[in-house]
Amino acid sequence: NYICLMVWPRPPSRDGVLVLTKCGRGTGFCVPFLGSAEGMDFRTLLLDEERGRLLFGAKDHIFLLSLVDLNKNVKKIFWPAAKEKVDLCKLAGKDTHTECANFIRVLQPYNRTHVYVCGTGAFHPVCGYIELGTHKEDVVFRFDAQNLESGRLKCPFDPQQPFASVMADEYLYSGTASDFLGKDTALTRSLGSSQDHHYIRTDISEHYWLSGNCFDKYIPSIQQKLNIYFLFNQNDMGGQRSLINKWTTFLKARLVCSIPGPEGADTHFDELQDIFLLPTRDERNPMVYGVFTTTSSVFKGSAICVYSMVDIRAVFNGHYAHKESADHRWVQYDGRIPYPRPGTCPSKTYDPLIKSTRDFPDDVISFIKRHPVMHKSVYPVTGAPVFTQINVDYRLTQIVVDRVMAEDGQYDVMFLGTDVGTVLKVLSITKEKWDMEEVVLEELQIFKHPSPILTMEMSPKQQQLYIGSRDGLAQLSLHRCHTYGKACADCCLARDPYCAWDGNSCSRYTPTSKRRARRQDVKYGDPVTQCWDVEESISHETTDEKVIFGIEFNSTFLECIPKSQQASIRWFLQRSGEEHREEVCHGC
Ligand SMILES: *[C@@H]1O[C@H](CO)[C@@H](O)[C@H](O)[C@H]1NC(C)=O
Ligand SMILES: *[C@@H]1O[C@H](CO)[C@@H](O)[C@H](O)[C@H]1NC(C)=O
Repeated sequence: NYICLMVWPRPPSRDGVLVLTKCGRGTGFCVPFLGSAEGMDFRTLLLDEERGRLLFGAKDHIFLLSLVDLNKNVKKIFWPAAKEKVDLCKLAGKDTHTECANFIRVLQPYNRTHVYVCGTGAFHPVCGYIELGTHKEDVVFRFDAQNLESGRLKCPFDPQQPFASVMADEYLYSGTASDFLGKDTALTRSLGSSQDHHYIRTDISEHYWLSGNCFDKYIPSIQQKLNIYFLFNQNDMGGQRSLINKWTTFLKARLVCSIPGPEGADTHFDELQDIFLLPTRDERNPMVYGVFTTTSSVFKGSAICVYSMVDIRAVFNGHYAHKESADHRWVQYDGRIPYPRPGTCPSKTYDPLIKSTRDFPDDVISFIKRHPVMHKSVYPVTGAPVFTQINVDYRLTQIVVDRVMAEDGQYDVMFLGTDVGTVLKVLSITKEKWDMEEVVLEELQIFKHPSPILTMEMSPKQQQLYIGSRDGLAQLSLHRCHTYGKACADCCLARDPYCAWDGNSCSRYTPTSKRRARRQDVKYGDPVTQCWDVEESISHETTDEKVIFGIEFNSTFLECIPKSQQASIRWFLQRSGEEHREEVCHGC
């Protein structure tokens, strides 16, 4: 099964460039697509790059797919909700198709041979183990439906509820509602090597405190992801969402993503939709990409803000916020801070008497209960969003970022999913004096129905993106250089860091020593400097058409005398982004 998409390269958009070219040359391509799957809710994805496979959790099903081609060797497990639970669910007034089924929400690698899986079980969450082969060639894909465990506090009841989970050291951490009504949310820890499989959870009233547990020993990126996700259900302070401290306690700090508003006051993007951690050379300090939308009914928009872990840590190491009583405002706390500093993890080398958070003195615990919020907020590294979409009738929902080497430096290409089934491929380019330019490289309608993109993962090894929505699952290459046309100038104007003109075609760019052999200019997209000596750029699609790029308020020489007696020459002017062309240079 394939879905076919049509792409029109965006008309070159550089201001001041006059483009004399033909328009409307679309290029089609097809992407693997997992059959007719309406309402299947492809939301939970587990990528196994090493073994080239992908597990997808959907409504009543778990699929095992090949990363290379979603259509090859598809295996599936059918795991519906128990009939009596479905009946109870319907009696409670829930929807048969969108609620009273087993929506898979947890797929986590448990050990070398098993994956832990949980589903909503028609508002009665259940979990189990899937056996998988350890090698690439293995075809084991088995589910033991007799050996199930309760999924309460591990998996949401309601399939639509925001949710996150991670597995570390055979412990499952989940941020979810613990009851049918979804009123009580908690961060929990379950499973684990201890036989009793008991839970640790945040207290209902003191949700920032997880007793006896410390997150410091777990892989930072995993906990960061969980902790940042978990803020979905946190209450706001001053209209902005908060970020929970990942280290020991549940300290919070505000993540600010705003733009200057019309009347001096900033307009805030206050609802976090998704987060992506872009690894850097320093493992402990990934870049944090956040997708934000607005809750305002007046101002609609989405923004991408980028934060550094260094800045986030600095805020947690800074002043605590203090509120004298309910009638007071939050102010900076300048009083005595107990030892060990609330928010740090106990460590034997630091203090042999404090082995775990259980050994924290009472004053540390009571301090953190009264001071769960940091005084300073975390601001984006660039001071402002790197990308915004304002006054459009859709919202951004998902983000994946790929760091790409280009001829003129490295670029972070953002793939953004929307709530209308499209994916935008965008770039934020830093110009002189920190001026930012937002460039939309591609805009693809992936799913026919305009339903939200629910999940998106990237395989750097396969150079593919895997995208799930309510009605389908698709695979998309990170680059399609050939769609940018058959001329050096078109390739250059596309400004896609993945692509360069190789002398014959627009193809995947790889950094080489032969500099002049590859023509690319992501920063300025200037074909004049890149393609001046390339024959192909002037012999456009039809041999009898010659294209010249000119810069506004400058002069360009237009040849008037034809080389052949049989020919006559006419020149047309077509402005950037316009279909219309007018004849110029009547003297010819
Ligand atoms: C992984 O966990 C499953 C379920 O508890 C167990 O049956 C299996 O033996 C474990 N495999 C390994 C390699 O430890
Ligand atoms: C601007 O005009 C001059 C004079 O014709 C020409 O030499 C130069 O190449 C032009 N610059 C660009 C960028 O077209």
